[in-house]
This record gives sequence, structure tokens and C-alpha cells, in this order.
Amino acid sequence: MKLCAQKAVEEARERNLQLPEEKNGRIVTLTNTDGKQYGGMTNKPVQEFKEFVEIASRSDANVLEIGAAYGTPYLMETFKKESMGHYTACELVGDQLRILATRIEELDPSKLSNLTLIEGPFPHKEVIDHLQEGGYDAVLASSVFHFLTEEEVVEAFKQVHRLLKPGGKLFAKMMTPYNGVTKPEAVQKAVEEMQNYLVHKTRPLPGFIENVRDRSRVRESITDEQLEGFGLTTDMHGFQFDKDVMNIFLESENFLIETCDYSPMNLPPFKLDGRELLVVVAQKPK
Ligand SMILES: C[S@@+](CC[C@H](N)C(=O)[O-])C[C@H]1O[C@@H](n2cnc3c(N)ncnc32)[C@H](O)[C@@H]1O
Repeated sequence: MKLCAQKAVEEARERNLQLPEEKNGRIVTLTNTDGKQYGGMTNKPVQEFKEFVEIASRSDANVLEIGAAYGTPYLMETFKKESMGHYTACELVGDQLRILATRIEELDPSKLSNLTLIEGPFPHKEVIDHLQEGGYDAVLASSVFHFLTEEEVVEAFKQVHRLLKPGGKLFAKMMTPYNGVTKPEAVQKAVEEMQNYLVHKTRPLPGFIENVRDRSRVRESITDEQLEGFGLTTDMHGFQFDKDVMNIFLESENFLIETCDYSPMNLPPFKLDGRELLVVVAQKPK
């Protein structure tokens, strides 16, 4: 569903929607209508996504952000620039978009015309139908794709490729299996599945987890309260991304890979050995 940016501001004011308080550099996201929460918005921009802001700041640019939350640091930085193009923010939880719109209005009301708000789940039809095929210079998806199913992950990358202009770039960051929350046995099982994929290269893409809070997968030392505090509700599925698997998958989807590498998440209890996140920068060929 497309939201009118001005109306979103008015609704946020009427309902007194406020940006929640930041704790340890994160703002936990709001609960969706399905009763689930999808982690937190970070205030720490990733170095590799600097180029996304540079592209978004060109006056003729057209960019898309998936999972824009309340206005990520990338979005806010772009709107603070003197010059910018058009920015489409897609987000599952509509009230987060309403708060995002108030932040832009407070910054510069004239910039609301540079903003399109799409509420709903990417890559589902209700969202895709509002987006322009071959229309975007850059697409950003920071900490979103690890909330999708295997079918949705595959469809998400296909759709991003379809939506990008030739030469346009995808900037993405996802969780890996290599984190301090997952039991070593579960990590080992994931490694075996990833290695099997590297040999056979057939779907399903390895990485799907039925329940991220399943106690048989989560280290005993990690409490349910800790996971709850990170905005991870019970019965949530997840997807974990491995670098070698993604290299093969992205090439098979006709992306030119610029970066596909691990990046540290220095956030206990997720912190492990510097491979907690996978950062991807990939181009649609010209
Ligand atoms: C962990 S937060 C990350 C927020 C922000 N992108 C960042 O990097 O800080 C994930 C966000 O993605 C949204 N989200 C989850 N699944 C989504 C989907 N299928 N389509 C669009 N947004 C989604 C959640 O509501 C939440 O705001």
C-alpha cells in the first residue's frame, strides 16, 4: 500500500506516534500486525553503504530502501544533503513509515515531495506493484533479508535485479550463521548444508531456520529475555547467509559482485569472530 507522505505526518501527529528511545545504539522496531517484531534499527552506518548515500544524493537519482524502519542513518543522511533525488522507503510496519515521515517533515517540509512510502512485505505483489521495473539507480536492504523464507529470499534478489536500472547497484547486509547466539552444533550443521550447496548448486538455498528462538539452536547462556530485548519474538523464522553460497547465487542471478564479504557485529551476545554479518554490493550489468 502506498502512503501519502503528508497524510502519514498528519496521522502520526494525531496518534502521537513517537520515535522510541535508543538503547545501545539501536531502536527496537514496532510490533507488526502479525504480532512479530523484526529486530532493531541501528544508528551505526556501514562504510560499504557510503556509496548508496552518494548515489541517492544526486539530483537525478531514484533509489529504493527495503526495511527503512523509522528512517535509517542512510535515509536521514540523504535527506540532510542540499541536493538529492527521489527516495522510496518500503517498510513492513506502516507506523514506522509514519514516524519516518514526521522526521523528514521536521527536517525540511519541502523534502516530503522527494519521498515515496510503501507499506508492506517485500518482495510480495502488494509492494512490487508500486515499484518501477528498471527504475532504480540503487537499492538498499540493511538487515532485512534475514527475515525472509527461502522462496522469498530467491524472489527478493530476482525482484531487485528486475527493479534496478542497468548499471544500478544493490547494497545489502544480512546475518550469517556465524554468531554468538547459535550453538556450535547448529553452526556446524549449517556449514555442512552450505558445503553441500557448493557441490550441487541446487535449491533450496541453505540457511532457512524455522524458529530463530528454538532452544535447541540457541546457546544455553542466552536468555529468552535477551532475545526479546533485541526485538526477536517467538516463532519467528529466519535466514542465515554464507559468503560462498551468496557468491554463487548472486552470479547465477546475473549480478556483478563488487563486495560479498563478512563484517563484524560487535554487539553481545551476537558477537563471535567477525563473521556475524554478510555485506553485499552487487551491480546489474549495464
Ligand atoms: C532489523 S530491522 C533493520 C532496520 C534498518 N534497515 C537498519 O538497518 O537499521 C528490520 C526492518 O525490516 C522490516 N521488515 C522485515 N521484513 C520486511 C519485509 N519483508 N519487507 C519490508 N520490510 C521488512 C522490519 O519491520 C524492520 O523495520
